[in-house]
Formats: sequence, structure tokens, C-alpha cells
Amino acid sequence: MKDVLVVYWSATGNTELMARSIADGADADLFTIDEITPENALAYDKIAFGCPAMGDTFEEAEEFFEWYEQLEDYLDGKKVAIFGSFSWGSGEWMEDWQERLENFDVELFEEPLMANEAPSPDEEELAFQFGERFKDF
Ligand SMILES: Cc1cc2nc3c(=O)[nH]c(=O)nc-3n(C[C@H](O)[C@H](O)[C@H](O)COP(=O)(O)O)c2cc1C
Repeated sequence: MKDVLVVYWSATGNTELMARSIADGADADLFTIDEITPENALAYDKIAFGCPAMGDTFEEAEEFFEWYEQLEDYLDGKKVAIFGSFSWGSGEWMEDWQERLENFDVELFEEPLMANEAPSPDEEELAFQFGERFKDF
């Protein structure tokens, strides 16, 4: 088991590309939500969660949210990064997600990382660097 977990859900692969780059940079264990239980995810103290926008609120990404809400109440004391892909607007779902996290005693890493649709090569490099910094956070 590595120090960092990157766990994500991605409908069409865009958030997955971000997750792979972040995990490379952070030398992290990388799983989709189908590959790790919420309980096993909580074994890590440093977790990067990835979820794309599926509406203006975070909860509308139902597949991810159903998994995430099982561990949300147990995130106190964790170091957490959040990221995901979106398509329009200014990333309202991510603001909503960030605000939810403020209800917990979580150390949130930097500003959430977002990419519009598929990350460009430059954005993949930024995601890699985001991972490198998160590893040292
Ligand atoms: C049902 C559905 C709802 C969506 N709602 C939003 C939205 O509210 N805001 C937004 O910016 N993008 C929205 N999108 C676009 C996705 O967030 C975007 O295509 C993203 O790149 C998908 O990431 P993924 O490939 O990791 O699944 C929606 C897509 C779908 C399929």
C-alpha cells in the first residue's frame, strides 16, 4: 500500500486521464470506485478523489456520490485533494463539493484541479505536478 490513494469515477474517460497523471506524479495507488470499498479507501491518510460534473451540484454525479457518501463522515484528519472534468460554466459542482468538505476537519490540498473535457497535454503535465505536490503535502 502506497502513501497516497487516487480514487475516481469517470463516465467517458476525461477524469480518468487526470487521475492517471495525478497518480503518476504522486506515486499513488490508483483505483476506480468499483475497485476499492469506501472502508478500504479510509486506510489511506492522503486521498485524491476524482469526479466529473454531472450537474450543478456534486450530488448529481450519482454513481460517485453513492460511493463517496459512505466515507464522507469519516474524513476528519485526512489530507484530501479533489479533481474532475467538466464541460461548461465555471465548475459549480466543484465549488459545491469544496463547500461540503468545509463541514469536516479535512486538510484540503490547494484549489481543486479541473479540466474542461479531456485534459490537454499541458493539463496532463499540470495534473502530474499536482500529484507530485500532493505527495509532499
Ligand atoms: C448527464 C450529464 C450531465 C452533465 N452535467 C454537466 C454540468 O452540469 N456541468 C458541466 O460543466 N458539465 C456537465 N457534463 C459534462 C461532463 O462533466 C464532461 O463531459 C466531462 O468531461 C465528463 O468527464 P468524464 O469523461 O470523466 O466522465 C455532464 C455530462 C453528462 C453526461
